Formats: sequence, C-alpha cells, structure tokens
Amino acid sequence: VNPISVGLLGLGTVGSGVVKIIENHQDQLIHQVGCPVTVKKILVRDIYKERDVKVDSSLLTTNVDEVINDPGIDVIIEVMGGVEETKQHLLRALQQGKHVVTANKDLMALYGSELLAAATENGCDLFYEASVAGGIPILRTLVDGLSSDRITKMMGIVNGTTNFILTKMCKYGSAYEEVLAEAQELGYAEADPSSDVEGLDAARKMAILARLGFSMNIDLEDVQVRGITDITEEDLNYGKRLGYTMKLIGIAHREGEKVEVSVQPTFLPDSHPLASVSDEYNAVYVYGEAVGETMFYGPGAGSLPTATAVVSDLVAVMKNMRLGVNGRSAVAPQYEKKLKAPAE
Ligand code: NDP
Ligand code: HSE
Repeated sequence: VNPISVGLLGLGTVGSGVVKIIENHQDQLIHQVGCPVTVKKILVRDIYKERDVKVDSSLLTTNVDEVINDPGIDVIIEVMGGVEETKQHLLRALQQGKHVVTANKDLMALYGSELLAAATENGCDLFYEASVAGGIPILRTLVDGLSSDRITKMMGIVNGTTNFILTKMCKYGSAYEEVLAEAQELGYAEADPSSDVEGLDAARKMAILARLGFSMNIDLEDVQVRGITDITEEDLNYGKRLGYTMKLIGIAHREGEKVEVSVQPTFLPDSHPLASVSDEYNAVYVYGEAVGETMFYGPGAGSLPTATAVVSDLVAVMKNMRLGVNGRSAVAPQYEKKLKAPAE
C-alpha cells in the first residue's frame, strides 16, 4: 500500500511533537487508515539548528516551494505560525489539491472563512483542531458531538500560558516575569508572548469557538479583550484571602439571536470547577439547550498534547481520502452575525 506523504511547515515545539507521534504511533496510524504515513519534507528557518527530535537532514529545507510544490506530498501540516505569508502558502497548497492541517489560531481567527472556502472549492480538507485548547478535542466536539444541539454559552480557560502564570503567582508567589520566562522555556507561549498575556491568543480561540458553536461569522474584532498584564500579586492575594481565584476567562454567550464574546481576568469562587484548572491546563464549559451542561478539560499547550490534535486531524484527512469525501467538512454559517452591545 502506498504511504501517505506529509509536508511539514515548521519543526519547533509542535512540529517536533508531530514527528514523534507519527514515528512512535505508526502501527496505530496504519491500523486506523490502512497505510503508512511518512514525513517527506520539512520547512525550517535554520537547517543547522540543534533540535530535540532526530530527523534525516535531507528532509529539511528553507525553501517553502520544495514542500508545497512537491507532487508526491498529499497533506501539508502547518505548524510554523505567522499570518500573511503563511496564508499565501496554505492557499497555494489548497489550490494544488493538497489537504491542510494547521494549529494556527492567528490565521484561522483572521482568515478562517477564506481558507475554508478555498479548501471546499478545491475539494480539500482543512482541519484546525489544535488551534483551540491544545489537546482537548473541542472543535470536533462542537462540530460533531454536539451538532444536533443549540449551544447558548461557552466559557473557559483557553490560554495555557496565562493560566500557568496566574497559577504560579497565586500558589507560590512567583514573580510574573520569571513565570512567563518559564512558560516560554516549556514551549507554551507564542513566538510573541504579548499575544498570550494581553489576551489576544484567548480572543482568537474564543472567536473560533463562537463561530463553530453559534454557527455565525464572528470576527476577531468582535471579541472584547482584556489581558493579565496589569494584574498584581496583591490582587491575587486579596482574592485568595476572600476565597477567590483569578483566571483569564473567555465567554461566548448567545441570548436570542444576539451574541457577545469576551476575554477578561475574572475572580472565581474557589469552589467553581474552573478555579481548580491549574498550570497550562485548559477547560471549556459548553451549555446546550438539550444536552445541558458539559465540560471538557485537558492540556492546553505544549508539544505532545498539541501534536496529538494535529496528528488526529491528519488521521481524519486520511480517512476522508480513503472514502473519497475530502472537501466536505466546512459548513457555511447558519446565522447572520448579530452582536449584543457591551452595555445591553
Ligand atoms: P515554534 O516557534 O516552536 O516553531 C516554529 C517552527 O517553524 C520552527 O521550526 C521554525 O524554524 C519554523 N518557522 C517559523 N517561521 C518560519 C519561516 N518564515 N520560514 C521557515 N520556517 C519557519 O512554534 P510552536 O511550535 O510553538 O507553534 C507553531 C504553531 O502552533 C503556531 O501557530 C502556534 O500558535 C501554534 N500552537 C502552538 C502551541 C504550543 O503549545 N506551542 C499550541 C497550539 C498551537 P526554526 O526551527 O528553524 O527556527
Ligand atoms: N500560547 C498558547 C497558550 C499555545 O499558551 O495557550 C496553545 O494554543
């Protein structure tokens, strides 16, 4: 049986996890999809860099065309980050009939509709499970598991870096800068960590969740955002004394036809289920009119948890290839966008 060939854009925290899972779980992948999976080319910035995963140096390239234009590559996995140039790479890949898996929330929050339309037009799959809440399969849950319900509220901790920082500051009195550096070292933070601490990364994820949960074209600029940069140790200690824990909380709420999406630091009573979500862990609460309350919990950042979501998307692409149904996964939004005014 011919193997499925993957072109990888990026071999950093997430990309090296992807290579490890494809290697270490090869038997399981073959069992799931009936053929082996090989990584054929990998785009990096620096081919001589020391890496924590061993790959044959002949796979590495700094020329994106060698990956995207390779006719032997079936699926592009994008784990390099970036927006404008990366979007052009992925559009070109889709135009050439290559399926795409991405972990890039910046890109999907800004250009998700355009990229999904291009995927459908070209009969390709575009999956992005890893873009929200790392290892928690929350997008698939909204699109498949809860697809028969009318979701009215989603609320959660969707940024691992800020949760890690707030947890360490609150539990151990660690200094903000020190813990941020630790989160960067552990591979949780974005290349530009200001998007984590200023709440923008969580806003991107809430826009994606609201789009799928409410079937409405929510834009990133529709999300009201406040990050944790002005939170002090005194604030956290004050809350602690009163039995409250500070979390960066994203909320997406539908009332009638109107929707409101926001991200802000919030004091939760210690007894609240989200108050005990610590370190880089994420949790998403989803309320559906029929199902009632559901909650999803797991690692929100980091190499192997995020790569699990990426490689599971690859499996979904390969299953669709086997059935000949690629390009049918994107469903157009059902509702016109209607936003609730902040003071309403
Ligand atoms: P890293 O910075 O660790 O890795 C980025 C990789 O892409 C590196 O291998 C780098 O090459 C390569 N790269 C970046 N820009 C270019 C370019 N212009 N040309 C060629 N190669 C390039 O990032 P992460 O792995 O942490 O994140 C990747 C993506 O996954 C981002 O979109 C991020 O938002 C998303 N994500 C990250 C999570 C995490 O926990 N880290 C979780 C969920 C999503 P080189 O190694 O040579 O520098
Ligand atoms: N920087 C992100 C976070 C990575 O800390 O949640 C996972 O999306």
